Amino acid sequence: CSIVVLISGNGSNLQAIIDHFSNKTDSVKIAAVISNEPEAYGLQRAKQAGIEAVCVEHRNFNSRDAYDRELLQTIEQYSPDLVVLAGFMRILTTEFVTAFEGRMLNIHPSLLPKYKGLNTHQKAIDAGDEEHGASVHFVTPELDGGPVVVQSKVPIFEGDTASELAQRVQQQERNIYPLVVDWFSKKRLLMINNKAVLDGKEL
Ligand code: GRF
Repeated sequence: CSIVVLISGNGSNLQAIIDHFSNKTDSVKIAAVISNEPEAYGLQRAKQAGIEAVCVEHRNFNSRDAYDRELLQTIEQYSPDLVVLAGFMRILTTEFVTAFEGRMLNIHPSLLPKYKGLNTHQKAIDAGDEEHGASVHFVTPELDGGPVVVQSKVPIFEGDTASELAQRVQQQERNIYPLVVDWFSKKRLLMINNKAVLDGKEL
């Protein structure tokens, strides 16, 4: 299973995927890592692992459509089976999302459907929630709205700051994302009629 990973920043989820599938015998191969930010640390992580690291900088395009068309073409050069969004901080056009229907995953730092969009950790604290977490989901045109595959929960403690909570959530993200990629690579996980299906059972 060949994958392309899209990032915008640190790339700790990317690193978890690199580490999880580092054996030559593993069925998942990362064909390329693509960032919209030239300074993204995740690009260094890719290079260190001997993976092609590409920047398609959004600032060089004057519309979202033009950017997404270029991104699509760049990804298609690698003919991936799966596109993995790992902290890719851009909203994608419907055309782009549709091109990878059932073949694109995202990780979002909340227990979806709660707290779509940004600042999820602060939102969970402000709401007085007792728990928070991360969700891996298939990407559909609705932002952070595609079918959820797995969620991991963490407690929110009295006095937590958003960054303390983010750290706790990100630790969980690094556990669940490689697992989901592994399921997809083994064809155990599919999206059928906008539903996530694992081992033949709707999730
Ligand atoms: C993660 O918290 C992810 O859920 C969100 O962006 C962050 C990316 O972190 N979409 P990293 O770049 O993988 O370290």
